[in-house]
Amino acid sequence: MFKEMRPEDVIAPRGEERNIKRNTVVVEIDPENIDYEKLAFCAEVIKKGGLVCFPTETVYGLGANAFDPVAVDAIFEAKGRPHDNPLIVHIDGYGMLDLVAAGREDEMDRLYRLGQKYWPGPLTIIVTKDSAVPDSVSCGLPSVGIRMPESLIARELIRLSGVPIAAPSANLSGRPSPSTAQHVIQDLFGRVDVIISGGDARVGVESTVLDVTGPVPTILRPGAVTLADVESVLGSGDLPDWRIPAAEGEKPKSPGMKYTHYSPDADVTIFDGGTEAVRDRITRETFCLKEGKCGVLTTDGGESFYKEKAKAGTVVLSLGSRDDMLSLTHNLFSRLREFDALGVTAVFAEAVPATGIGNAVMNRLYRAAGGKVISC
Ligand code: TXA
Ligand code: MG
Repeated sequence: MFKEMRPEDVIAPRGEERNIKRNTVVVEIDPENIDYEKLAFCAEVIKKGGLVCFPTETVYGLGANAFDPVAVDAIFEAKGRPHDNPLIVHIDGYGMLDLVAAGREDEMDRLYRLGQKYWPGPLTIIVTKDSAVPDSVSCGLPSVGIRMPESLIARELIRLSGVPIAAPSANLSGRPSPSTAQHVIQDLFGRVDVIISGGDARVGVESTVLDVTGPVPTILRPGAVTLADVESVLGSGDLPDWRIPAAEGEKPKSPGMKYTHYSPDADVTIFDGGTEAVRDRITRETFCLKEGKCGVLTTDGGESFYKEKAKAGTVVLSLGSRDDMLSLTHNLFSRLREFDALGVTAVFAEAVPATGIGNAVMNRLYRAAGGKVISC
């Protein structure tokens, strides 16, 4: 079936007749042994203005030709994304940089220094954009977020397409980001042309978004590249407290930060404090819940405690080991979706220390909880 398929058979009509319904094709590609015939087909879909979901090391992306405003608009429609939240542009190498970036010398100097250490990888760098980048990508901002992903499938898809690919995370707006192809299929099957199934995301949460246009390089979204990492290269950096929402009427620096994100259907509450106090409090909460099913999100070692002490029937899931922060980011969005799949209605989540990569975990968890944190 795959060999006989032509890109025009899967791409939804453009313009007037365009409809959100699409015939989605799922294309399996082994990240360790890329089938270039299949990937060339996916690249052809991008070239023709279609929507292709692809794996990256952070989360799956929902991509289109960054220079095709009609295709870019279709990204927003497929996700149900508000039109004031700009997209990241993905490049396969430095050869594509000049097409999208037109930063001042100091901006580009920072970009190259960071790129040398962290590209390809989970870091998005915001610089002044080239006028060739359509407004639909930057949502009218004078800047653009650029990332060179580590995932080879992603970079080869961009290379074969011959254009930078604009891509947000491949989830429905407001849902947890997708760290597996299955998550993408759950959210976007029937709304995009192609979903590449290419293995689970290594990092599991979205890239660090770093703005280098101002006097101090500022992290707008914490990720696997930490403030200390940025400071080690640039000598300075700032990570404003992401718990504080922008004041009424004030423009948030990163438009994406004002939206409630990452929400599973279940109601999430975070419990912060010493291990014993948190565990006792969460245990009590499981007995207090009158209606619905509870879930507990803990880390390795916590499962046996809750299985013994918490109310019978409580779903207990571990994020991973606190000694390996990347195991926590890797599992976070999967666990949130698992609670939903298991019919959990209230999730009690243990906080982890918000330092280093812990910032990325707590930032996502905090927003999944709509800011509900109980100190124990
Ligand atoms: O890891 C990732 O970054 C994934 C993969 C697919 O690369 N992409 C991703 O995209 O998470 P998205 O659209 O879900 O999140 C992009 C974030 C949003 O919070 C957006 O507001 C911010 O980056 N952003 C993009 N361009 C910006 C700009 N020019 N200025 C400020 N914030 C920007
Ligand atoms: Mg997103």
